[in-house]
Amino acid sequence: MKKIDNNTKKQKKSVYMHSYGCQMNQSDAERMLGQLLTIGYERTDDITSADLILLNTCCVRESAEDKVYGKIGEIKHLKQKNPRLIFGITGCMAQKEGDALIKRAPHIDFVLGTNKVHELIHVVEEIQVITGRHIVDVLLGDTELPDDVPVQRGDGLSAWVPIMYGCNNFCSYCIVPYVRGRERSRLPEDVVREVESAVTDGFKEVTLLGQNVNSYGKDHKKADFADLLQAVDNIQGIERVRYMTSHPKDLSDKVIETVKNSRHICEHFHLPVQYGSNRILKAMNRIYTVEYYKELVKKIRKSVPNASITTDLIVGFPGETDDDFAQLLDFLREVRYDAAYTFLYSKRSGTPAATMKDQVAETCKKERLHKLMEIQNEISLEINHKLLGQTVEVLVEGASRTDDTVWTGRTRTNKIVLWNYQGTEQKGSLAEVAVTHPQTWVLKGELQNS
Ligand code: SAH
Ligand code: SF4
Ligand code: F3S
Repeated sequence: MKKIDNNTKKQKKSVYMHSYGCQMNQSDAERMLGQLLTIGYERTDDITSADLILLNTCCVRESAEDKVYGKIGEIKHLKQKNPRLIFGITGCMAQKEGDALIKRAPHIDFVLGTNKVHELIHVVEEIQVITGRHIVDVLLGDTELPDDVPVQRGDGLSAWVPIMYGCNNFCSYCIVPYVRGRERSRLPEDVVREVESAVTDGFKEVTLLGQNVNSYGKDHKKADFADLLQAVDNIQGIERVRYMTSHPKDLSDKVIETVKNSRHICEHFHLPVQYGSNRILKAMNRIYTVEYYKELVKKIRKSVPNASITTDLIVGFPGETDDDFAQLLDFLREVRYDAAYTFLYSKRSGTPAATMKDQVAETCKKERLHKLMEIQNEISLEINHKLLGQTVEVLVEGASRTDDTVWTGRTRTNKIVLWNYQGTEQKGSLAEVAVTHPQTWVLKGELQNS
């Protein structure tokens, strides 16, 4: 590895970073910022005055890519005004597009793939020395990120801690396995060390990250996901442990038992089903059936009765018929999720689903999505209504985005709670809130004097 020279270290420069997509990308962004701080950069929210602009991109749906292309276009005039400005693209779209991005937008200086997060400062330094040079590094080797990459965490309450990288599942609609490579699990002791250091830094909550956390450790066999959860639950000073995302096909009884018997693992299962008919699940290559999934939900509800269960759903997958869609609605009425994150199917070239026949018309997809959300919203509201009059424990996050006098926090079941600020509550502490107005996506309530 190249040494960082002291001259570079002394200059104060600013970096503007925008990260799109999932928490894994967010976590990569924190590791990139961490490295940049070591060579004298500080973060700015003012894109016009930045010396370095980084877009950490997502390509899971076309809409995510469109947003990035729009932003790349906006940055062109900044580069014209300030030729010393360095502009880099990182993340999943960088991995997917490689030098095609520079061909399309030559004002991009470098493109760095998802496996190259730890190489960032070397690339930036090289470009600082030789301006006008383009660097593209998107080699997707199957190594994991080194464990000594410095991390600059955001000011949220939850520390993101990756436990594994990549995905082996190849769901037929999904681009992630192509841009993130194969599954690689970090060693349990490295994960525990990182969680401990986040707790020492004052984080009360950690979220363990992976595309399919339930297959953690299948490669190194040093610990499985349940063992890792147990080890993290035992860490002194930790208040709440979350994890995502959990693939239903690999959720073991041992994990459910561990959640049940733990002190700090939150009673929230985000268990993306993606669809509610066996025909579509098969075409999606999700491996499980509707019947298997319903049994799993039963098991969870039996073991952890107060758990919330949420999901991801895709409508408009190729070949989806009215009958499939009716089965999906019945499925939703039966399972009764606390919340569902719903997406319109987006064709990703290179994936098997992109070339399947009977792609669903855009208008039909939208109608179905609308109907689906209507039904799910009713269910979410009914479930939240049961909390009326109950007191819930929240981890205080601070003022809400739109109103300083309204504060927000989350329950262990991951529901957002809003209340009028009383002056005594403190960010990062636990508080009790009596639910007075449950709504579809939030619970409004009153802070209880503790
Ligand atoms: N590994 C996670 C999901 C990562 S992507 C899991 O398997 O649950 C997050 C969500 O985006 C997915 O759950 C899926 O619902 C959605 N998604 C992925 N590819 C998509 C596509 N091509 N079109 C629409 N939604 C998609
Ligand atoms: Fe994509 Fe499926 Fe992997 Fe999730 S499990 S990242 S949906 S391929
Ligand atoms: Fe997007 Fe990559 Fe995450 S495609 S959803 S940022 S893994």
